[in-house]
Amino acid sequence: LENGLARTPPMGWMSWAAFMCEIDCEKRPHECISERLYVTMADQMVKDGFRDAGYTSVHIDDCWMEKQRDSKEKLVADRARFPSGIRKLAQMMHDRNLKLGIYEDYGSATCAGYPGSKGYVETDAKTFEEWDTDYLKFDGCNVDVTEVIDGFKSMKRALSKRTKKMVYSCEWPLYLRVNNHTDWINYTDIAENCNMWRNFDDVYPSWSSILAIIDFYVENQDELAKAQGPGAWNDPDMILVGNESLTYEMAKSQMSIWCIWSAPLLISVDLRILKAEYREILLNRKAIAIDQDPMGKFGKMVQKDGDVRVFLKTIHPIDPLTNETSYAIAVFNKNPKQEKYHQFTLASLGIKSSLGKLKVEEIWSKKVLGIVEIDATIQVKTNPAGTLLFTANIVKNLENYIS
Ligand code: DGJ
Repeated sequence: LENGLARTPPMGWMSWAAFMCEIDCEKRPHECISERLYVTMADQMVKDGFRDAGYTSVHIDDCWMEKQRDSKEKLVADRARFPSGIRKLAQMMHDRNLKLGIYEDYGSATCAGYPGSKGYVETDAKTFEEWDTDYLKFDGCNVDVTEVIDGFKSMKRALSKRTKKMVYSCEWPLYLRVNNHTDWINYTDIAENCNMWRNFDDVYPSWSSILAIIDFYVENQDELAKAQGPGAWNDPDMILVGNESLTYEMAKSQMSIWCIWSAPLLISVDLRILKAEYREILLNRKAIAIDQDPMGKFGKMVQKDGDVRVFLKTIHPIDPLTNETSYAIAVFNKNPKQEKYHQFTLASLGIKSSLGKLKVEEIWSKKVLGIVEIDATIQVKTNPAGTLLFTANIVKNLENYIS
């Protein structure tokens, strides 16, 4: 969607996968969906360096509302859990140099049964503008499949009439797919109407969920890659790095592959109890730079060898003399029980270099392999469910470089 926003994939923190629809603030005061939770996470993001690393928004998900609209048919935040209201919450985020994302659903009700936007699209777009929210995640529960496309488009039109511009995140292709209408999915249309879109099932904290997402994206990679670019992103769902159901290797794998895809990086974990080693994955500047690369390419799987999959993405810098790009490479082992060995050459992945060599570095271990000839064999060992993430860069001062 060309609204000037999301020129690189959005980065932030989202409540859903970590706290879902916990609304019992008496029993779970520190975990319930409430303004206190969002402000606490915002403060933690600032304190631990997430904001400064690029994670600049806090995203409300389902279960923030009262069960009824007010007398003017406007949405109301739950009065007990959001005593200051959303307008004030957005202000509190802006005071911290963060943005606030809101959540709604096109249907008669949200997935968790709160008032949906059906019949109120214009009203709700105006309300979000009044509240000064920066982003809308628009869900598709309780929508007849024949109304999915028009519904998502109607909210896009309503938002575009407002002065305040908001990132528009859709679940349009996901709901066509789960309602057996993949034949209606038109990514050109979706990319013109949404800044990002969920294609596949919700992520949940297990290796099989992460694998299912990766399999789906690989299967459809040619179509998905074409749809994506600045302002228009495939959204494989939240980042679960730090969740106890995923090992350290699994966490690095999710982060690596999401970065190879230029996916939005929406962390959903309790930042208050996040272990340092996981925080380092999320804050790794080089991984983030691969994700946020200005070209925004959707990297593809280019090699498969047993349980090992190799992904390749073109990134900056681009060499001004030869007009050749640099690359990010992920060597991913889907097997959670066994380490795997893999051998490859840069050329076998489809990498070209008029100099015949590139500088190769592994991001997680910070190990520089050195200047590698594109026909030289690179031998790697991947841990169970692990990923090695490399950059292969054009470097100006390579020997034999003629400038
Ligand atoms: C379905 C979405 O895909 C999830 O990300 C989350 O927003 C839930 N609905 C909330 O009910």
